[in-house]
Amino acid sequence: MKKSGEKITALTAYDYLIARYLDEAGIDIILVGDSLANVVQGNPTTLAVTVDEMIYHSKIVKKAVRTALMVVDMPFMSYHVDLQEAVRNCGRVMKETGCDAVKLEGGERIAETVKHLVKVGIPVMGHLGLTPQSINIFGTYVTRGTEKKEAAQIIKDAKILEQSGCFAIVLEKIPASLAKKVSGSIKIPTIGIGAGINCDGQVLVTYDMLGLTEEFSPRFVRKYLNLAGEIKDAFGRYIKDIKEKSFPSKKESY
Ligand code: KIV
Repeated sequence: MKKSGEKITALTAYDYLIARYLDEAGIDIILVGDSLANVVQGNPTTLAVTVDEMIYHSKIVKKAVRTALMVVDMPFMSYHVDLQEAVRNCGRVMKETGCDAVKLEGGERIAETVKHLVKVGIPVMGHLGLTPQSINIFGTYVTRGTEKKEAAQIIKDAKILEQSGCFAIVLEKIPASLAKKVSGSIKIPTIGIGAGINCDGQVLVTYDMLGLTEEFSPRFVRKYLNLAGEIKDAFGRYIKDIKEKSFPSKKESY
């Protein structure tokens, strides 16, 4: 798809119905993102989600996937201790969920892990730029790679990840000009989130693009629906109908 210039589409899923609708819509990649720590579990960062919780949600998503490539995020600290633990955790995710690949955050520092995983038969997607699992190193969620040194490191990291065997790289919240450079300097596809039009594909958190996470509105999220508003309105009308004794009607009764 990168060679032919066809853009790659990706969105996140954490449950059966959303995964089914995504797959039926023809999405190329379904990512069981560790953003589930935020949007499903209500945590302030992605750090808390566990391997068992990722497996639980991924097994449910897998039941709905027919044609999309299914990628599962490896949680914080599940691939950092040593190579053996990384293989054990990624292997568990592959075996127990039936997903097609795992995603790991980081560049040069995880290169050996990526090489090892690929060698034992686990396809790996990389993730550079704003890597939310590093929030305690960055200290903030601002755009990454705006300074020359960090931009050069991101380009270097992308090349290292490609050489280590990654089949694609997510580029999160970096300048569009830098994402263009990264995409042009590697053969594997880049999937952007807040990284401009020149990535080989795009990904968003599904709850964000559906307008469910109303308090989260960075400029890179295009909201295709206002589900938060619609849902609140529906709940309000349901409560009102019951209080007014207009629900259930005769037609809705046996
Ligand atoms: O966890 C996530 O949702 C992600 C984003 C890149 C979509 O990693």
